[in-house]
Order: sequence, then structure tokens, then C-alpha cells
Amino acid sequence: IMSSRKFFVGGNWKMNGDKKSLGDLITTLNTASLNDETEVVCGAPTVYLDFARSNLDARIGVAAQNCYKVAKGAFTGEISPVMIKDCGVEWVILGHSERRHVFGESDELIGQKVAHALESGLGVIACIGEKLEEREAGTTEEVVYAQTQAIADNVKDWSKVVLAYEPVWAIGTGKTASPEQAQEVHEKLREWMRANVSEAVADSVRIIYGGSVTGANCKELGSQNDVDGFLVGGASLKPEFVDIINARA
Ligand code: PGA
Repeated sequence: IMSSRKFFVGGNWKMNGDKKSLGDLITTLNTASLNDETEVVCGAPTVYLDFARSNLDARIGVAAQNCYKVAKGAFTGEISPVMIKDCGVEWVILGHSERRHVFGESDELIGQKVAHALESGLGVIACIGEKLEEREAGTTEEVVYAQTQAIADNVKDWSKVVLAYEPVWAIGTGKTASPEQAQEVHEKLREWMRANVSEAVADSVRIIYGGSVTGANCKELGSQNDVDGFLVGGASLKPEFVDIINARA
């Protein structure tokens, strides 16, 4: 039996595209037939948030890819949730592995960002995931539970949070987690939520998978009981993103 959790497909454009190519992608999405049982959100580069929100159909959400932990001030180069909302954008991706591992963001900083984004009224796509050496050392659970704890400590209203499990070894590598590997971690995360947050949140929170999701592998991944959608990088810039949105159609 499929759950009542609404399937959620996020695109993460990362630092890619320009007004021409993103404009073409937006036209493709606006004119495509999209399953209305799926919630769709596109993560745009900061400078294109306004462009993406102005041009994408209202049925498609927009996310920032990061934000800072306070509303305003002397923080050169940063953006705040209130600015994101001012552009009509309703989501932010926080704790992405590239923020953690390329830019050195700690669990503590990510937690503070999560708290402030939620208090400001944004929805949060909160990302977690183990590195290859952690998986090989058998510490996947320990790593993702600790990352989830740092997020959970900062969440009051889970209805505004989507948890994205993205094994670092699967991101941008073409090495997708198998449906069994994804399901195993998602199920454990849901049990962790049951034990550490609440029954109701464990049952309702969307846990989405990210890491080399494609049009070709999305149906099998998306048919797993505890996989409630995807966070898609590379393939979200291509027309095949439509097939991923419609994975459960
Ligand atoms: P990928 O990226 O689909 O290109 O592996 C996923 C992500 O980083 O969210």
C-alpha cells in the first residue's frame, strides 16, 4: 500500500544554467503534463530566484539552495529567508552535501539555519547523507542519525520539512543507491523519527532520495515504501526531469 505522503520531487540546479537555458527548461516544465499528485520544487541559483519564480507556473515551487541564519546585517555575500520570501519563493535547501563538504558547514550551523528558515516561514529541504568511507566503515546509520538529530533539535513544525537522504558517494557520480539500499536507510530514518520525534511525524514526513536519480531509475526507486520522492541534480536540468516528476504516474 502506498502511503498518503504526497510524492515530492525537487530539482537542484546547483550553480548551472543561464537565463537562456533555464528559460528553456522553465518552458519545458510549464508546458509538460505533470502528475498533480506530485509536489514539484526547483532549486535555483540565488541570482535567478526572482527569474525562476516569475517564469515558472504557480503549480511548480521554487527553492533557494542555501540561506543564512539571521534576517539581515553585515554578512557580505549571504542571503536571508526574508529576502527569499520577498521574491515569492517558499522553500530553501539546507545542509546539502556540497555545503557541508565543499564549504565546511557544520551540523551546528545547519541546525541554526533550519531553525531560522522555519521561523521565517520557509519550507526546508534538509539534506543528510554519509560519505563513501563512512558507508564502508559501517557507520552510515550513526552518521545520518547524528545529522538528523542536529536538524530535529531545530524543528518545531515538521509539516514544513522534507528530509533528503543523499549518500555523498551517489551525488553526481552516476552511482545511484540501489532501491534496496535507499529503502533500507529511509526505513531506518523513519524508525529513528518514530523513536525520537513522534509517531505522527514518522508517518507523515517525506523522506526523499537524492544521488544520480535519472529517468531510467526513478520508477524503481520511487516504488519503495519509504521513498517519498527525490532530490535531483544533473537530471533536473534536462527534459527527463518531467519523467522523474511523473515517476509514480
Ligand atoms: P545528482 O545530484 O542528481 O546530480 O547526483 C543530487 C543532489 O546533489 O541533490
